[in-house]
Amino acid sequence: MFIITLYIIPISLVKNVKALILAGGFGTRLRPLSCTRPKLMFPVANKPILDRILKNLSEHGITHVVLAVNYLADILIHNFGNSKYGMKISYSYEKKPLGTGGPIKKAEDLLNKNDEPFLVLNGDILTSINYLDIIKIHKKTDAIATLALYEVEDPSRFGVVDINGRGQIRSFVEKPKIEEAPSRLINAGVYVLDQAIFDIIPAGKKISIEREIFPLLAMKDKLYGMKFEGIWVDLGKPNDFIRANKLMLDLIANEKLFLEKDVKISKNAKIILPVAIGKGAIIEEETHIGPYVSIGEGVTVRKGTRIENSIIFSKAWIDHFTSIRGAIIGEGAIIEGWVKIEDECIVGDHAIINNNVTLTKNVKVCPSKEVKKSILEPETVM
Ligand code: GDD
Ligand code: MG
Repeated sequence: MFIITLYIIPISLVKNVKALILAGGFGTRLRPLSCTRPKLMFPVANKPILDRILKNLSEHGITHVVLAVNYLADILIHNFGNSKYGMKISYSYEKKPLGTGGPIKKAEDLLNKNDEPFLVLNGDILTSINYLDIIKIHKKTDAIATLALYEVEDPSRFGVVDINGRGQIRSFVEKPKIEEAPSRLINAGVYVLDQAIFDIIPAGKKISIEREIFPLLAMKDKLYGMKFEGIWVDLGKPNDFIRANKLMLDLIANEKLFLEKDVKISKNAKIILPVAIGKGAIIEEETHIGPYVSIGEGVTVRKGTRIENSIIFSKAWIDHFTSIRGAIIGEGAIIEGWVKIEDECIVGDHAIINNNVTLTKNVKVCPSKEVKKSILEPETVM
């Protein structure tokens, strides 16, 4: 009886629910990797974050997803096409970025075919939230927007709420100074919006839903929140990206190496879990890989190299006796022999790091640049 009840409630609730994913940000804080790909294409344990979001949505019964795109839209369209995981995918293309609110109004025709509320997701969030819970809570009130809320130590990078015991948000403030934050409960970037939102967001304008719409709804008692616990990471900065990769590896590769097809690993390589290795990668002898390493498709790791707590994008070439710790290496980058890269350094796509070079403390190398000398202080190589 209990099982039947649980089953019936979710299915009836998700009927006809659509989701809009905000997928157009520049990912400024993730440069230089975001110079060549949208943030949503960043691989987390070897799969683009958008792929993981779409899988999650389809498992919750969503059938139609609208991607609000502009920056590097072609890459997303090329990779995801018109359907994925059994869901229809449509694109709403902005010629000029419309912020976080404008794209919702722009996609009105795609989202208002029925009278149902719909989900809106920031595309740069990895979370274990149950989308059905928030839809269910939204339907119980007269809210125009219901926000998923998550508790964090430092809310100053986020939208922060003051909420009462009935789940009503009294005020919403975007990126407050830490001493002015009304609580530590933040907007987790997952909302349910009612069709009435289309009468509130003006058309054709760049609008910040967080600065211009949510405070207004709070004033009108039409903004509600649902606190949740579990996994939640925003991929804003390189550090977040390494953390998201770690969390995902803990979930999928803790007990067994997450291995794709045609990988060649020397039997003298030492793999310390959790580790994910992509299709066609080659790991030579006397290498130490892990813990917390994702190695993308077609990567070569040569003899004697050590990689720990790092993300290696596809087709990178890591030569012999090199050491990489806490760093991100872009697609097709060439890291020559006896190199040392650590402390949140980022090597852009197709960059070349010459033999014997050391990069530490947040050095960022732009795509296709060559680094010939060691850099030991934060610097961007342009
Ligand atoms: N289509 C479109 N057009 N999407 C955009 C645009 C745009 O002009 N600008 C940003 N986005 C997308 C981004 O790609 C991202 O998926 C989402 O909107 C949020 O933008 P961010 O730039 O990542 O915002 P944030 O991280 O500083 O803050 C937001 O997320 C926090 C949670 O991570 C806010 O919603 C905060 O209130 C929230 O706490
Ligand atoms: Mg963000």
